[in-house]
Amino acid sequence: MKRRKFIQLMSITPAAVVLAPKLLHAKSSTVAAKSSPTYGSTGGKLPDYAKNMLHSDMDGIGPDGKPTGQKATYTGASKANAKAEKAMKHKMKLTREEQAILDGKEGEEKAKLMKILVIFGNAFGAEKLVDLSGAPHSNMFIGAPYMKSMIKMLDECARAGLKSYATYTVNPRPYDVYKVQNNARDMEMIYEGYSLQWDLDYVHARLGAPDLNYRTCACYLDEVGNAPEPGTYVAWAESSAVNYGNSVLGIRTNRNGAGMDLIQAMLGKAPKFGLMTDEGRQATWLVEVKTSKEPDWGAVGTAIGRKCVEDIPYITGLKKYFKGGKVTPDNLHLLKAMGSATASSGAVGLYHVEGVTPEAKKKGKKLLAKDYKTYVIDDKEQARIIESFPNLWPEKNGDPTAAFIGCPHNTYHEVIKWGKLVTEALTKAGKEETAIPVYMFMPNPVRDRAIEENGELIGKMKRAGMHATNMCSVSYAGMKGFSERVRGVTNSAKTRVYSSVRYFPDDVLVKIIVTGKIPRGA
Ligand code: F3S
Repeated sequence: MKRRKFIQLMSITPAAVVLAPKLLHAKSSTVAAKSSPTYGSTGGKLPDYAKNMLHSDMDGIGPDGKPTGQKATYTGASKANAKAEKAMKHKMKLTREEQAILDGKEGEEKAKLMKILVIFGNAFGAEKLVDLSGAPHSNMFIGAPYMKSMIKMLDECARAGLKSYATYTVNPRPYDVYKVQNNARDMEMIYEGYSLQWDLDYVHARLGAPDLNYRTCACYLDEVGNAPEPGTYVAWAESSAVNYGNSVLGIRTNRNGAGMDLIQAMLGKAPKFGLMTDEGRQATWLVEVKTSKEPDWGAVGTAIGRKCVEDIPYITGLKKYFKGGKVTPDNLHLLKAMGSATASSGAVGLYHVEGVTPEAKKKGKKLLAKDYKTYVIDDKEQARIIESFPNLWPEKNGDPTAAFIGCPHNTYHEVIKWGKLVTEALTKAGKEETAIPVYMFMPNPVRDRAIEENGELIGKMKRAGMHATNMCSVSYAGMKGFSERVRGVTNSAKTRVYSSVRYFPDDVLVKIIVTGKIPRGA
């Protein structure tokens, strides 16, 4: 099944929520020390549905458009050609406490969750379960009928009084009937298409998520506050958040599927494998960025994702774009843009940037595994990647009709930067309004900070036609009939992957927003 189709069907895409740090209560990350000789799985015959569980439908396609032979497994370590039957035989060691939960000593619901977790861990060759700390991040954000069984299961857990071990963040909701889909046709589609949204929100409210203001995929922003300490074992889902958390924060989480995040959150435990291990965090690719100017971060991320698929890259040549090798609120969007592209054009759950990200700062090239491969991204390669982006508009030469900025969600710095770029360009062109509506996706606390600290600019942006919303960009672009009626433009390499919206670098995007036309040669 083609990936885009899969996403449309499953809609288990991106994103996260806002918590003040004080809301996030920590718990010891110490792994349960005492282990008993008992084992967690009874093994048995492999069910039919599990045959393909060791890889996804994501086949590695190189920048040349040819298959690379790799298949994503979402573990951070390629398991091409792995056999599900073999994985079924593996059994991890459980502590007495974990075995007791599995045996039902803490209730029927928890026993079921533990059973799921143990089977999951065994399938991926986990050695044991580890205790989680920090705060989880969930990507269970779509209340569509196909999520019914998952929502029902979580509802049963909530009714049984289960809760996440810590207040957790959640991806943005898939719609915004206040500011984006505030028209009769869209609202009708939304209430039909997301008929279980209320049930899902109710589940989150009981399991430990804060109010809807905190919905965002960029949960790690200061205004949101879900940024666990380096080395913390934690359960996050949402490809862009996992990718940023592992790489820039230095946390340890696998790329969990929707639902597995909350199962782990309710148990406070996760199977240790893949990106949670030292070995699984070794880089098998050396990526040398050698562009003559600051790279196009989305294009570089796309190139890395396509090349490495889910393997881990050690990236050189980027330190000069981070003053003193520091990631700050003013430059983190560069890594957010690059990383989310590696996670959507491929399935990269962790990258190291030489001299910048925490593990690369500590260990340097020692992070490279033996027999690593090398990939150079120079001006020519970057141009080749950008040229490979298809124009998916049904009316290929039509004029754009809307701009999408903020996938993953915008930082405060990005909101102000875009506000100035667009309003100053409008003034220069003698205009007061943008030629097309501009949707700025951001967490509500970022919007509130922007209003408080830059009220005049935010007012100007609003009058010019720039709309702030905390929904998910791709969910909007994935709406039924969207590509037939909207010719979208974006600077997000992630939105580009999952929709018909076309990608342009920032400077070109500003021109498009002001004129409503795509510049010749762009
Ligand atoms: Fe966030 Fe939605 Fe993009 S969750 S990363 S805005 S696809």
